[in-house]
Amino acid sequence: MKNVVFISASPKIKEKSVSEYLVKLAADKFTGDVDKAFINVRQSINKHQTLEDFEKISQADALIIAFPLYVFCLPGILMRYLEDFHKFYSDKEKFINNKLKIYALVNCGFPEPGINQEAVGVIRSFSRHMGADFRFGVLIGSGGMLLQAKDAPFMKKATKEMNKAFDTIAMDCQNDNNVSVRDLLISVKFPRRLYLFMGDRGWISVARKYGLKKKDLYRKPYSIEEAYNSGNPI
Ligand SMILES: Cc1cc2nc3c(=O)[nH]c(=O)nc-3n(C[C@H](O)[C@H](O)[C@H](O)COP(=O)(O)O)c2cc1C
Repeated sequence: MKNVVFISASPKIKEKSVSEYLVKLAADKFTGDVDKAFINVRQSINKHQTLEDFEKISQADALIIAFPLYVFCLPGILMRYLEDFHKFYSDKEKFINNKLKIYALVNCGFPEPGINQEAVGVIRSFSRHMGADFRFGVLIGSGGMLLQAKDAPFMKKATKEMNKAFDTIAMDCQNDNNVSVRDLLISVKFPRRLYLFMGDRGWISVARKYGLKKKDLYRKPYSIEEAYNSGNPI
């Protein structure tokens, strides 16, 4: 029997996350003699279940890590979680399964799936540090549409490709021949300019929800010049 651990690492609190959705789609592909465990990073931390969940990871045969791209990398919450896991495992002289296979499912807001590549590289590097076998990533663009428009006709191709990619993970996981598989890139067939326009509208409405104006979205709180102009120098 294989132990497969699915980790979803969207920092979202109340909203439904694409990462959870991807985990569900992927998990449904695993049938037969498989024990599945699910870890939501935010909940793991909030409910103080980290050690318990780290134990689960230590016993996994396969780890599937789903997360959104944040500032072209991993969300901080996941970065920290993986660092803590690495420390836990080094301090306790724990041994992870020496055949542990790791997969990354990354979705981003921009339409081009290739921009997730750097983040996949971070998971690859984490795997190397753990002595695990990083297998491949599934890189998905236009994340903003995956949930909201999942039943729209233009999503058919991307949905088919996602299903195929998750079938590949499920098969690869259960196979002992480690033929190398390239990262799988999936994009949504939708006019780019229209998608970006809708995305911009979305950010403006989120800003309004939090009492901000459109121009506030262009502020650079990290810029020294702006900090001085605001009267709150760092
Ligand atoms: C703080 C923040 C940073 C983000 N950075 C990027 C980015 O660098 N590139 C990108 O394409 N999308 C970026 N996004 C968009 C998310 O990757 C996208 O909305 C994703 O679908 C969210 O997935 P989730 O529902 O699993 O959290 C960012 C979103 C947030 C909130």
